[in-house]
This record gives sequence, C-alpha cells and structure tokens, in this order.
Amino acid sequence: MRGDGINLRISGPTPLPDGVREALGRQMLSHRSAAFRALLQKVVEGLRPVYGARTSQVLPFTASGTGGLEAAIVNTVAPGARVLAVRGGHFGERFAEVAEHHGAEVIPFDVEWGRAVDPEDLRRRLREAAPVAAVLLTHNETSTGVLNPLPEIAAAVREESGALLLVDVVSSVGVTAIDMDELGVDVVVGVTQKGLMAPPGLALVAVSERALSASRTNGVRRYYFDFGRMAAAVAGGSTTYTPSIPCFFALEASLSMIAEEGLPQVFARHRDLAACCRDGLGRLGLRPFADPAHASPAISAFLVPEGLSAGELRRRLESEHGVYVAQGRARLKDRLLRVGHLGFVARPDIDHVIEAFASILAQGVAQP
Ligand SMILES: Cc1ncc(COP(=O)(O)O)c(C=O)c1O
Repeated sequence: MRGDGINLRISGPTPLPDGVREALGRQMLSHRSAAFRALLQKVVEGLRPVYGARTSQVLPFTASGTGGLEAAIVNTVAPGARVLAVRGGHFGERFAEVAEHHGAEVIPFDVEWGRAVDPEDLRRRLREAAPVAAVLLTHNETSTGVLNPLPEIAAAVREESGALLLVDVVSSVGVTAIDMDELGVDVVVGVTQKGLMAPPGLALVAVSERALSASRTNGVRRYYFDFGRMAAAVAGGSTTYTPSIPCFFALEASLSMIAEEGLPQVFARHRDLAACCRDGLGRLGLRPFADPAHASPAISAFLVPEGLSAGELRRRLESEHGVYVAQGRARLKDRLLRVGHLGFVARPDIDHVIEAFASILAQGVAQP
C-alpha cells in the first residue's frame, strides 16, 4: 500500500512517492536566486513533453486548479464575449460558472453525464452559436469518469470556428497524452496534486501564442493572474510572486520519475490499471457509470447496487480496510462511488481495493 496504512484512491490529492516526500523536506531557498532559476527551468522543461508544449509557454501559478480555470477565463475571454461551455459533469459546470461569473455570454453545450462529447454534435453547435470566442472543455470529467476525445474535439473547434480552445486537464495531466501544440489547444490548466504525484499548490497553466495575444487585447484588468507578466517572469527565471517552493521541489522529483519510467509507459500503466479496476469491480456486480468507449484512465465511477448506501459503503471501506474512495458529485452523490487510479499507483493498490469491496459486499451493506 502506498502510504502509512492508507490506500488513498480518491481523484486527488494522490499519494506521494518516497522521493517526492524527501524532496519536500528540503530547506527553503530564495525565489530570486540562481538556484531557483535552475529549478524553475528544469520543472518547466520537464512539463513540456507532458503537455506537448513545444512553443506554448508553461506558467506555474501558485493556486489550486480552480484558480487556473479563472486565470484562463480572465486572460482570454472579454466580458460579453460568447463562449461555448461543454457541461458533461460537475467540473464542466464549474468552468462554465467561472466564465459566467466574469461576464461571458455562456452558451451551454450539455452532454449527458457519463457520456463523452460527440465531435459532430459539437461541430453543429459551433455553427449554430457562431461567432464563438472560446470553447471550454473538461478533458477528463472527474465527476463521471469520462475522458473526452481531445484530438477530435480540437479538430472540430479549429475547423468550424476561430474560437480559442481552453481545456481543463486537471485530472488528465500525467495520465494520458495532451499534445497541445499539435492539436492547436490554446490554454491547458493542470495541477500538481493528481497525475503528477506532487502535493496541491500549483496551477500549471500552458498557453499558446494566440492565448497570450488575447490576454494583451481583451481589455480585462488583472493583477495576480496575468499571463503576460507571468510569462515575462518565467522567461527571466522567476515567478511574479512568491511561489510554492516546496511544490517545485516535489515536481522536480516527480517529473524525473515520470521521465525515467517513460511517458508512454506511464500512460499505458494508467490504462491497464483502469481496466483492471473496472474488470475487478465489475465482477463483483458494480456497474461502471461511464460509456466504456470513453472510460477514463484516471478514475472509474461505479453505480452503487440498488438498495445499498454509497455513504455506508465508502465509510466501511475506510474504517475496515483503509481504502479511501470518493462518492459522486452533486446529484450523483448517493449513486456513485469513484475510485482513483492515477499518479503513484500500481497493481497491488488496485487489487487491495477490489479485495476490500469483495469483503464488504460479501457481508452485506446497510440499506440507504
Ligand atoms: C477536472 C477538474 N477540474 C477542476 C478541479 C478543481 O481543482 P481544485 O480543487 O484544485 O481547485 C478538479 C478537482 O478535482 C477537477 O477534477
């Protein structure tokens, strides 16, 4: 088991490898020093292949993922601008809400929870809603366990509109390929605390030249979350304000582990463990919630069998087996259990989850 008797199988924060925990024990340094400059450069370079950001710039804001979503909106969307927001779960709704909060005209593109975006439907909606300034997408919808088909979606956006494509990759970064430059994605927003095996603390935002240019001209007043100023600071070897230095120590360690394993191998491990989790729990009668054609490599959501309480099952997994899973979000709270298999995770962790479920289901669970 990956940590101190706890099998942390929520969608994040995820367990930390020992090398990352050791890195977190390092003494502070000045964020205006040559040592930090070298660290920042190493981390930014290490993130480039993870994001497919060869020419796009990586901007590490000290914030949680939601801060990164807000940064994406305030830099690229002007108040009153029309955005098409994919809403296929709780986090798609959040991204839309952030845009609405900042005065965008949000055209919802609702996708049934548990299903992926159909790129042909998206093409139609883009034509109907034209002109659209930006499309908001959640790559991996953590609330439902669906991975949206980013290459087909990006092609639809490029071919049907001049819209910027802003993508929440909070739960897909480090789990599956994100070729932002090749696909023509303008902003991706990731975090440290999930697939990247580091603690919470940084919103890792990568931005295309188009996004930087939009941030120069969209007329929105920003202070902390300004792309241009952060890009200039990073180019000069620093960040605009005091960064979460421990997160940089942690990322330096975790990115080198990822590079050592090899990105294709990391992605394959996630796919294999996801399949193993769904097969194992499926054999116990738990039905996966997501469309199998778009099932997430990061997290699997299962419908709790009729008559059983999701909360009770979750509590017993914790107290009797040290297995921490998540319940559904929002209206699915009592219907789903979600098992994270992302980041620092290996086969024994998933086997342990399956054994824990098997043991509890064999004994019976209280009715809701
Ligand atoms: C897809 C997605 N987007 C956004 C968030 C919000 O991230 P944070 O809690 O770091 O603000 C989460 C959190 O789980 C998420 O899974």
